[in-house]
Amino acid sequence: MIVNIRKDGDQYMAYFIEMRRLIGVNQMGADIINWYFNLGIDKDQISHRIVKSYCIPPENAVCDVTEFLKSINLELQPSRFNDTDQADVHLPIGIELEITSACNLRCIHCLQSNYSALYIDLNKAYSIIDTIASAGVFEISIIGGEPFKHPSIFELLKHANDSGLAVGLTTNGTLIKKRQIHGMAKMKNLSVAVSVDGIGEDHDHTRGNGVFIKIDRTIRRMLDSGIEVEAMFTVTSYNIDRYKPVLEYCNELGITCNFNLFKPFKIGHVALVPNPQQFFELILTLFELRSQNKSQIGLSNSALVGHLLGLPPKNECRAGQAGLVIDVHGHMLTCPSLLYCGYYKESDFPLFDENFIETWRTHPLFTGFKRNGLRGCQARSYIFSQNVSGGDPYDLTSFINFLEKRKRF
Ligand SMILES: C[S@@+](CC[C@H](N)C(=O)[O-])C[C@H]1O[C@@H](n2cnc3c(N)ncnc32)[C@H](O)[C@@H]1O
Repeated sequence: MIVNIRKDGDQYMAYFIEMRRLIGVNQMGADIINWYFNLGIDKDQISHRIVKSYCIPPENAVCDVTEFLKSINLELQPSRFNDTDQADVHLPIGIELEITSACNLRCIHCLQSNYSALYIDLNKAYSIIDTIASAGVFEISIIGGEPFKHPSIFELLKHANDSGLAVGLTTNGTLIKKRQIHGMAKMKNLSVAVSVDGIGEDHDHTRGNGVFIKIDRTIRRMLDSGIEVEAMFTVTSYNIDRYKPVLEYCNELGITCNFNLFKPFKIGHVALVPNPQQFFELILTLFELRSQNKSQIGLSNSALVGHLLGLPPKNECRAGQAGLVIDVHGHMLTCPSLLYCGYYKESDFPLFDENFIETWRTHPLFTGFKRNGLRGCQARSYIFSQNVSGGDPYDLTSFINFLEKRKRF
């Protein structure tokens, strides 16, 4: 297991690539993690080292190391809350890089208004990857458009993988060639999310005729090659009642099914908005299934999940706190959804350069975005109530009201 470790302010951040998990520790913790996970040193040897380096009494050392590693293993369990999006960090944890706006599909729920054939220049992408990797960013997610429309997608993924970043990708899964699968199987840090909005006709209803057959073949091929694959299910009013077959499909394949809530951006999207109560019921069901280890389920609604786990209030939003999006033109975006819904203009955003951390920390657009609050989703608030700081019908306050009403009836 590889762990990337960086100093961040007064603490150290240990990022476990395979699990995409971040744990904040002190210097001794960082050393123990590095020795144990990266260098394969055994607990006895580590105990000797901490006695020498940290003046730990020899009689306590073995016990301290054992207890510490136990607590780390517990934190890494899939059912534990993933703090990766919540950390108060001095530089982004992960970056999303939009490499193209082109797409071969026209999904009914799609957030894009423009599918023009823009492709990020390969050297520019390499330079962004090198800059963020050497700055200590842990993750890169390749986004689009459809990433496999980019003629150099494979080289791009390879470069990101070789730079030691955890590499993620969301794809519609229809354009991935056999030889690309073969090459991707050699990338140890890569995880591929394929959009699955239903099984068979349900998926095709959203994405076009014949799409499900294609992605099913590709998902199975990728899994057979040893690539880490997950499903991404975007919840709309059309498919909210049709998620069970998708979970069964993911169970059969042994993969995680991530749930992502649809946001309306176009007039025609209004009918696809799921009823919040129905969505909250879905969250409760999925949370229950996940707790019982019946399915591998990814829930992006951190505030709601944190509440169900009985944790202190968590942020719903990862953008701006631990994340950063770079669009196909090289702009640094806080939240792309706020651009799509018209709250920002593209020209508002600064361009990415080697000073990106300073920009991310101090540019008025980023500081203002954080000030508006990260507890709910600012884009949903803006879409549903024209106010970024309140009015998200799917936020924690609405969820708590829903739970209270539910208790009474
Ligand atoms: C924008 S797509 C781009 C990647 C790729 N072309 C695909 O379809 O997976 C990334 C993810 O966003 C989801 N998505 C698209 N429109 C959305 C919307 N209006 N609200 C929420 N998610 C959306 C898609 O279902 C997909 O899982």
